[in-house]
Amino acid sequence: MAEFSLPANSTVKQGKDWPAQSGAGKTQSFRIYRWTPEDDKNPQVDTYTIDTDDCGPMVLDALIKIKSEIDPTLTFRRSCREGICGSCAMNIDGTNTLACTKYISDVKGDVKIYPLPHMEVVKDLVPDLNKAYAQLASIEPWMKTESPPPPDRERLQSPEDRKKLDGLYECILCFCCSTSCPSYWWNGDRYLGPAILLQAYRWIVDSRDEHTGERLDDLEDPFRLYRCHTIMNCTKTCPKGLNPAKAIAEIKKLMVERQY
Ligand code: SF4
Ligand code: SF4
Ligand code: FES
Repeated sequence: MAEFSLPANSTVKQGKDWPAQSGAGKTQSFRIYRWTPEDDKNPQVDTYTIDTDDCGPMVLDALIKIKSEIDPTLTFRRSCREGICGSCAMNIDGTNTLACTKYISDVKGDVKIYPLPHMEVVKDLVPDLNKAYAQLASIEPWMKTESPPPPDRERLQSPEDRKKLDGLYECILCFCCSTSCPSYWWNGDRYLGPAILLQAYRWIVDSRDEHTGERLDDLEDPFRLYRCHTIMNCTKTCPKGLNPAKAIAEIKKLMVERQY
């Protein structure tokens, strides 16, 4: 798994310590990044120690317990609690993953939790995804057609063509991959990154879409596509087991093939 740690000169300071309540059974400490725009202070790491005998098994269960029972100011996103919505993506124990599918018991020692790396932070564990969603909108992630639809049914696909979407349609846009990609860290204003490129490929290979050439033209750019250097962090970290690096390689292959 791709790992990240704070640089030695990090300005993140040790913050408040919330010890376990008396009578706690098995305990576990969670070291959690805290930053709020209203405070004109540097970020800090607060430590919460909780009774894991009285908590669900996932890191998200612990975050919800901390917020409900100890510190209501702790801020994070979550919705589905089952790896479908992508909202609870964060950096846990050095890896970008989903808090709702990460077992507390899989972490040795204190559980260290940071927001997704190299994104601006809105508050605590909530990254600002506005830029990423603007990039998603730029690839027009919907079916584009010119021909009229059949009068009596939807546009059909052969089973073989439908199969080409496997490994692509499952993406939940959690951005674990893009925020693990060094090229996206340094060029995220112009490079689309693996999450968006996987989405772009999903529409390029859809047999019903009639704008394939235009979609490829739009990616033919030294930055939007070609900043991928096949480092593979994206594929290693994807919590859904997808392979965005392969999708990017397939787009590059199509770019070459259409020249001949
Ligand atoms: S393979 Fe490409 S997209 Fe994936 S981490 Fe490496 S540079 Fe980024
Ligand atoms: S490819 Fe995987 S890591 Fe990337 S956004 Fe989709 S589900 Fe998340
Ligand atoms: S809460 Fe939806 S993916 Fe974790």
